[in-house]
Amino acid sequence: MDRHLADFLNRPLHIGNRSIPGRLVLAPMTDLGHVAFRQLLSEFGGHGLLWAEMADARRLPTENPTVSNCFRWREAEKDHLVFQIVGHDPQQMALAARRIQAEGLFGVDINFGCSVQAICKKGAGAALLRTPDRAEAVVAAVRRAVSCPVLVKYRTGWQDDPQPAVDLARRFEAAGADALTFHPRVAPDRRTRPPRWPIIAAVKEAVTIPVFGNGNVFSPADCRRVLDTTGCDGVALGRMAIARPWSFAEWTGRLDPDPGIYRRTALRLIHLLRIHFEPAKALVRFRRFARYFAANLRFGHSLCRRLATANDLDAAATVVEAFFDTSPELTASPNPNFFH
Ligand SMILES: Cc1cc2nc3c(=O)[nH]c(=O)nc-3n(C[C@H](O)[C@H](O)[C@H](O)COP(=O)(O)O)c2cc1C
Repeated sequence: MDRHLADFLNRPLHIGNRSIPGRLVLAPMTDLGHVAFRQLLSEFGGHGLLWAEMADARRLPTENPTVSNCFRWREAEKDHLVFQIVGHDPQQMALAARRIQAEGLFGVDINFGCSVQAICKKGAGAALLRTPDRAEAVVAAVRRAVSCPVLVKYRTGWQDDPQPAVDLARRFEAAGADALTFHPRVAPDRRTRPPRWPIIAAVKEAVTIPVFGNGNVFSPADCRRVLDTTGCDGVALGRMAIARPWSFAEWTGRLDPDPGIYRRTALRLIHLLRIHFEPAKALVRFRRFARYFAANLRFGHSLCRRLATANDLDAAATVVEAFFDTSPELTASPNPNFFH
């Protein structure tokens, strides 16, 4: 265990008018960071903040948490849960932020990173990085609307040039953002090339608010390296959090994982999905999780193939049990081929 890393990750961090107990946070991930997964992760512990799944700002003001796919939470996570909103209209974004604040959640995160076509076509997500005035106006409108922490998640931009990202960092801070999560990849690059961590250093250097570095942190050594080489204040874990939800507890010195943790974790998620979602949606979510979780297994594809034929969660649980009954070979670190 890297004690130095654990000590750093366990240090509180001020974000706006609030403080969080640790610096390793869950990055936002659509279809993966749902309430059941977050409960699983919380049962291990070690996280500072958790991000919920991205929500469309237009729908949020009237969204009903009892039936919503993404706008739902457990009471126990409210004080460390950030909701990410996506949209292009400053007033709509402000209204959505107000709703998040009214629900008593930790804070609002603005998505300027999503580069999927359906979002960018509407002028939202990473598309706003092409129009810095509008992006800044969105942050300013959200800032005026709420007193809870306002965070911004964004990426390098549309060209492989650090300067726009640095300029934007300054503009976001000036517009009232309380923290940034920065993913140093250009927008058309959907996680195929490695992120350029030195740009995290440039962004951190440009502002006084906390910066969470993000991108390809898959081990405690990666985490230490990104912190040491960029000076960022914390790290947002994405895909590794799905593959090994106990990483937060492990890297912060709370847990020493045993080989049985894989089986227990998969079965526990099935149980939690049953509690939080109706059966068909729960099954889809479990299969989605399994694509990343399978990166831990030498024959992970075989687990995914068998799950694809499971018709319900009971069948999925049977597949998981049968698979682990054969003592499958584990990989020392997750196989990146599973990390799309
Ligand atoms: C399946 C998936 C869904 C994602 N959804 C979102 C999202 O809704 N909003 C967002 O800002 N980033 C999203 N991301 C990007 C992650 O937050 C993160 O920036 C990216 O995965 C790089 O971090 P990692 O290398 O630790 O996975 C998503 C990533 C994945 C893999």
